[in-house]
Amino acid sequence: MSIILGIDTSCDDTAAAAVESGTRVLANIVSNQTEIHKKYGGIVPELASRRHIEMIWPVVNEALKAAGIKLFDLSGVAVCHGPGLIGSLLVGCSFAKAICYSKGIHLVAVNHLEGHISSIFLEESKPSFPFLALIVSGGHTCLYRVDRFGAYSELGRTRDDAAGEAYDKVSKLLGLGYPGGPLIEKIAQDGNPKAIDFPRAYLPESLDFSFSGLKTAVLNFVKRNQLGVMGKDIAHIMHHALLNDIAASFQASVIDVLVRKTERAIKKEGIKRVVITGGVAANGELRNRMKEMGDKQQAEVFIPTPSLCTDNAAMIASAGYCHLKAGNTAGLNLNPKAYMSL
Ligand code: KG4
Ligand code: ZN
Repeated sequence: MSIILGIDTSCDDTAAAAVESGTRVLANIVSNQTEIHKKYGGIVPELASRRHIEMIWPVVNEALKAAGIKLFDLSGVAVCHGPGLIGSLLVGCSFAKAICYSKGIHLVAVNHLEGHISSIFLEESKPSFPFLALIVSGGHTCLYRVDRFGAYSELGRTRDDAAGEAYDKVSKLLGLGYPGGPLIEKIAQDGNPKAIDFPRAYLPESLDFSFSGLKTAVLNFVKRNQLGVMGKDIAHIMHHALLNDIAASFQASVIDVLVRKTERAIKKEGIKRVVITGGVAANGELRNRMKEMGDKQQAEVFIPTPSLCTDNAAMIASAGYCHLKAGNTAGLNLNPKAYMSL
């Protein structure tokens, strides 16, 4: 039996989890900082790292307690060392190093993106290799071909904003709040996705993405229709039905592009297994549309349960287990990196 403690402090969630044999989640604790950042309409990095310092020990302790284990039961500690906010990453890495040093436990470094892909290994239904992976989160929107654990080829990435970032920015300009994804998804349910014809950047032939034009189109729509002034809480000014239509039409545009690109990747690579993960993959409409596309293409679509799509440490522990098995441990001189590819 091999139990790994996973730690992720890459952004604004302090997360710790205990996972057995890379696949069985014993505990998965996430302490989010929404209350701290929401009044600023986005994450304030300095506040995020300070909060991580306060929360890391209570969150790790809670994970150990929920799993019914002690530190000496661990085979290793897997920590996310990037990409992410450097001050935030530093807290998780320093804490993981301290545990490993004081208890003589193996330290494993995990790339956050590899963690997102590995979240599917925590599910009953897992894809066989090779498979495709679409990561759609607040910081990333990229498509990979995964030939085996550790062998990733990038097929496409966003040229500007990430899909989750577009959700967050549009939510802010509509005065809905932070984080934007769940808020837009909620009101979009009462809106008409065909009400406004927002642009879709399909970028012919390419598997890259672009969402900044869409964000600008929403802003221009709001200005053109004199619905409010950016920065003001226009959610209170605007007629609710119109707000719902804007949200639904924006969401339809994002999802159309994500689905079309994934379909294109399946055809181009001739691989009929695809994993959709990252915070935006918690979106119900995206999940449904991807499954429909999978049926049409006779491809298997694997989407982790929503709590494993958004940032968590179980996915870090799962990837960490595979690294540990391969003897790929990190030294106590491990340093986090804000920018890092897979
Ligand atoms: O993976 P994640 O938790 O953190 C990053 O690695 O970035 O993703 C967070 C992003 C945010 O932009 C958030 O607005 C978006 O995921 N998100 C959603 C939903 N839940 C979270 N976007 C659309 N629909 C959702 N239900
Ligand atoms: Zn993430």
